[in-house]
Amino acid sequence: MQWGLRNRLSRIIKPDTGRTVMLAVDHGYFLGPTTGLEDPGALLSPLLQYADALMPTRGVLRACVDPAEAAGTPIALRVSGGNSILGELSDEGLTVSMEDAIRLNVSAVAISIYVGAANQHRTLINLSRLVDEGERYGIPVLAVTAVGKDMARDARYLSLACRIAAELGAHFVKTYYCEDFERVVRTCPVPLVMAGGKKLPEPEALQLTYDAISRGAAGVDMGRNIFQAESPLAMIQAVRAVVHKGEKPKKAYELYLSIKSGQAKKKGKK
Ligand code: R5P
Repeated sequence: MQWGLRNRLSRIIKPDTGRTVMLAVDHGYFLGPTTGLEDPGALLSPLLQYADALMPTRGVLRACVDPAEAAGTPIALRVSGGNSILGELSDEGLTVSMEDAIRLNVSAVAISIYVGAANQHRTLINLSRLVDEGERYGIPVLAVTAVGKDMARDARYLSLACRIAAELGAHFVKTYYCEDFERVVRTCPVPLVMAGGKKLPEPEALQLTYDAISRGAAGVDMGRNIFQAESPLAMIQAVRAVVHKGEKPKKAYELYLSIKSGQAKKKGKK
């Protein structure tokens, strides 16, 4: 891997732990104003310092994130889209040129692939072209294994999708947790980060994080389980404790509760 590409990837996957806590806030590209993301600017401002990387769309990055405030937060920019929950989700193309991604000073670009879905071929070719561009300019590519409504989120399917992403040149892959997750990690030759999926009660989300990390994930790229938590600020810190310090879920939940109650006291004093 070339120097620039390795350097950018090291901004995201921290060399001291080999892990990362990415904060995914790109959901609006097909979901519109998702719960918790109605006002991305207000949400993100206090969270940026705790994210090893932020995964937004171009529009939210430009309109809602202060470039100076985000100076220390690497950006993994969502660059695929073109559909919505009202259409065929797999019908995606590239939505941002590599030139604009570089102008936005990103550390990686992210694209979804839809293995087994109607537009499998197109999304896999999109990934391959994006990897060519990424290699040309030293920008790592994160492949997101989107799972169609009819597809099982099991180790058989997810290891197929992750391996195809890696074979086509993705520098890291984002996928869902499943039973026998070790198999998905073992058969994917590049680092794998876990997507959080639907909102769970906080203790369960911390358990999920712990399970993914202890089964070999290089971290998380988590959205709803952070920004839809009762306290996103406390949740991202609790997730960090699991990912970077190997904290057990019970302890991490205690940390969540103590940060949340500290926040509530601060608000009460105002
Ligand atoms: C989905 O296509 C997006 O890439 C989300 O960023 C991804 O699903 C991760 O977010 P969550 O943890 O909410 O599943």
